[in-house]
Amino acid sequence: MAVAETLLKKALEARKNAYAPYSHFKVGAALVTPKGHIYVGANAENVSYPCGTCAEAGAIAAMVAGGETKIAEILIVADSKELIVPCGACLQRILEFSNKKTKIYAANMKGVQKTFRLSELLPVAFNEDLKK
Ligand code: THU
Repeated sequence: MAVAETLLKKALEARKNAYAPYSHFKVGAALVTPKGHIYVGANAENVSYPCGTCAEAGAIAAMVAGGETKIAEILIVADSKELIVPCGACLQRILEFSNKKTKIYAANMKGVQKTFRLSELLPVAFNEDLKK
C-alpha cells in the first residue's frame, strides 16, 4: 500500500474518534516519520473553545511522546468539499519537525485531493534559531 493510502486509512480511523461536539467538524491526521512509524491524532474540542486542539497537534504530540521528532509525510482529512489544509498554527507546528522534503496531503472522504510541500503553504515563517 502506498504511504499516502496508509496515512489516509489511519487518519480516517482516528477521525472517527474526534471529539467535536461544538463545531461538528471532525478532523483526522496521520504522520509518518523517516523510521516508518505512524502516529495519529484527532481534534479534541473543549467547552472553553480556545482549549481545543487540532488533529495535527495530537499526531505531533504522539510522535514526540514516541521519541521521534521528524515528519516525513503528514495527512489531514475531514468531510469537506473545500480543500482542507492545516490551519496556520498547525503549519507552524509542522514546521518545527519538517524539512524541505516533508509532504502534506490534503484529503477528504473521497481521498487525497492535493499534495503540498510546507513551503507552499507557509512560504515565510518565524523560525529563529533559539536552540542554544
Ligand atoms: N481543526 C483541525 O483539527 N485541524 C486544522 O488544521 C483545522 C481545524 C479542527 C479544530 C476544530 O476542532 C475544528 O477543526 C473546527 O475548526
